[in-house]
Amino acid sequence: MAACHAGFWRENPPHGHSAGPSGACETIRGVTSLTAESLFVRACRRQPVPRAPVWYMRQAGRSLPEYHKARAGMTMTAACSTPDLITEITLQPLRRYDVDAAIFFSDIVVPLRAVGVGIDIKPGVGPVVDDPIRDEAAIGRLRDLEPGDVPFVTEAVTSLVGELGAKPLIGFAGGPFTLACYLVDGGPSKNFEITKSLMYGQPQLWDALMTRLADITISFLRVQVAAGASAVQLFDSWVGALSPEDYRRSVLPHSARVFAALAETGVPRIHFGVGTGELLALLGEAGADVVGVDWRVPLDEAGRRIGPGKALQGNLDPAILLAPWPVIEQRTRQILDRGRAAGGHIFNLGHGVMPETDPDVLARLTDLVHEASAQQRA
Ligand code: CP3
Repeated sequence: MAACHAGFWRENPPHGHSAGPSGACETIRGVTSLTAESLFVRACRRQPVPRAPVWYMRQAGRSLPEYHKARAGMTMTAACSTPDLITEITLQPLRRYDVDAAIFFSDIVVPLRAVGVGIDIKPGVGPVVDDPIRDEAAIGRLRDLEPGDVPFVTEAVTSLVGELGAKPLIGFAGGPFTLACYLVDGGPSKNFEITKSLMYGQPQLWDALMTRLADITISFLRVQVAAGASAVQLFDSWVGALSPEDYRRSVLPHSARVFAALAETGVPRIHFGVGTGELLALLGEAGADVVGVDWRVPLDEAGRRIGPGKALQGNLDPAILLAPWPVIEQRTRQILDRGRAAGGHIFNLGHGVMPETDPDVLARLTDLVHEASAQQRA
């Protein structure tokens, strides 16, 4: 089949797999004949769909009681390296919601830990780095990621793809700027001032750091696609902290390299950040097929800013899910109308599901999106 990326597979066999002596694609990975026709993949490619596909950032995890039960007594980093648990947690939301895609359960710090960075996820705090990376020597110690560094990712993706059948699995990684924010500032920060001062004051050092991070991200995303992920999302969550000029100069070339490297896999590439109203066109320009929009810009306006040729993903304010149902319904219908105008729309929230969200509300929302978007097209 056309989507048999034999060359890609040959050059990048995931841990524990080989392409065989002929180099033929015995196992077809990435967008398979099964997932290529899914509503989610079709909408990412701006092909006609009978209704809007839907999934939610952070649909697995903190908002689900069964997640807390499954992970009880285990650290987040331990959970993220245990294939059975990753598989179980990734599938949990699919038992509740009729979503059109699963997202791999992991965290953006996983590939950094895998290459030896002393970074941990502190409960109630977030990612914290032992020795923040701020000089040439520390950047020099950042090595590239090999598939053998993350065998648990290959194992979990492989088992998930088997379980999911025709339902696509979305792989993901943190964008280079967002990873740098944690590595340089040393932990969660409001304004990323240490990171930004390195970016503004030591551009050569900054480029060296971003080059290393983009390389790690490319390798990490390739592992997920080689094991069967049908799409990838780059979460550059914190790029909204930058002006368009600085984004263009200091971040875009590195993210563009990530998207270009993934082009040969043939899977749809999604690019997402928060507070990116002024950056939307640049997020598209970096090379994604789909631009994720937060709730601050209406989708029709986002479409105008991004220009033709890109699908849009979003953009219900996650906080709206805490409001009464009639408010949720009205806002959802409005987003579907605006998304339809954009051509190629994947319904999602404008950022991750909040911990306080009632899962029953998300179940109802999923059905509403399906029904209302099918009616729209009837
Ligand atoms: O919250 C949970 O669902 C429990 C597991 C957990 C994750 N990350 C899953 C995750 C925990 C405890 C973390 C720690 C973490 N990592 C924090 C602390 C606060 C928080 O939200 O729990 C933060 C800020 C990070 C860093 C991080 N991880 C960023 C910036 C992103 C990009 C997405 C975003 O929210 O902007 C992630 C990705 C991430 N962490 C996902 C999951 C399941 C992404 C995949 C998805 O959308 O499901």
